[in-house]
Amino acid sequence: MALTTTGTEPHALFSGDFWDDPHPAYAALRTEEPVRRLALPDGPAWLLTRYADVREAFVDPRLSKDWRWTLPAEQRAEHAATEMTPMMILMDPPDHTRLRKLVSRSFTVRRMNELQPRVEEITQELLDGLPADRPVDLMREYAFLVPVLVICELLGVPAEDRDQFSAWSSVMVDDSPQEQKYAAMGSLHGYLGELIERKRTEPDEALISSLLAVSEADGDRLSHEELVAMSMLLLIAGHETTVNLIGNGVLALLTHPGQRELLRADPSLVGTAVEEFLRFDSPVTNTPLRFTSEDVVYSGVTIPAGSTVMLGLAAANRDPEWTDRADELDITRDTSGGVYFGHGIHFCLGAQLARTEGRVAIGRLIAQRPDLALAVDPAGLTYRESTLVRGLTAMPVTLGAPA
Ligand code: HEM
Repeated sequence: MALTTTGTEPHALFSGDFWDDPHPAYAALRTEEPVRRLALPDGPAWLLTRYADVREAFVDPRLSKDWRWTLPAEQRAEHAATEMTPMMILMDPPDHTRLRKLVSRSFTVRRMNELQPRVEEITQELLDGLPADRPVDLMREYAFLVPVLVICELLGVPAEDRDQFSAWSSVMVDDSPQEQKYAAMGSLHGYLGELIERKRTEPDEALISSLLAVSEADGDRLSHEELVAMSMLLLIAGHETTVNLIGNGVLALLTHPGQRELLRADPSLVGTAVEEFLRFDSPVTNTPLRFTSEDVVYSGVTIPAGSTVMLGLAAANRDPEWTDRADELDITRDTSGGVYFGHGIHFCLGAQLARTEGRVAIGRLIAQRPDLALAVDPAGLTYRESTLVRGLTAMPVTLGAPA
């Protein structure tokens, strides 16, 4: 694919048939213009596409999360960094360090291990409820539901509220109009605020109560707004992403029968298979925005101070300079060093949980439904038009009888 615009004019990469298969465009950028200014709906942003650049940029403190670097110096002091919401994914140290430390005390390996049996139960119930004899949309009836029900479990959303909670969350993740998305986000924000207040007087074993206890014991209390923001962050970061790990992973197997057979013959491969799905069709295609605090140079290109930058994860994870046969799906591949969960201080807090969900949801589906097949031509599948996540709008399949 030839890239025809000049280096200063923002390139309209995110348009047209790019969404069906972005990889040829990313490959062209990697070799021809690895640091490129692109047109985004809210203004131009630079995209880094080479693995080596992306890895380095993740640990470069000059690539800040503080949007105020885009303002003229004299206006910066007029705004707070957390003007919109106090989410740690939008913060630099030391504010990020403080919140990450507090939540990490509750987000323990032990808590994640304890969640595994519930992930298995939730997945199995959903799988058992899927019909054998008529097409279903696997995104809506499976991939969307596993992560949201797991997050309910993680946060401690009571059973009676879960349908409502899932409905709001799905609107945020699916193709609903923007106004409906904002309304759902507002409802979730209000709901989580009330839930947190309830947990103060009726604590349980789940994460919100643990966050309340940890922050009080530490003497460094999370404010009410910080707790709501943390809960919203876990919901958004843990839902949109994992939905698409499940969807993209299942599709990869359905379109690569040899790899599917390999996994069926040896289910213990599911661990490396999930890593490979994350690399091959990365659910987070490009990172949330970063902002340059001074001029920076990557691959010989100067990105001026005050610019907006995205790190191209999908492009980096298929860089042949980093891994051989990068465009091939190989579920036995060693993907260590892959940047699908990020790198550095913002490395995905939920990586262990996401891996568990991916292994259970994809592993069980493939093992238990040997006749699973797409109900449409793969060329007819469509993707969400998002510069952040890559995921199908729907995946009609027939499941066939359980094994
Ligand atoms: C396949 C699923 C997932 C993928 C591919 C993924 C990917 C990522 C990536 C790339 C980042 C770094 C963003 C950046 O540097 O700007 C990140 C951060 C984060 N993720 Fe995930 N994620 C997944 C699932 C989850 C889950 C299940 C949770 C929690 C329930 C979660 C919670 C977070 C949080 C809280 C952060 C921000 C960390 C910080 O700022 O220190 N993620 N994730």
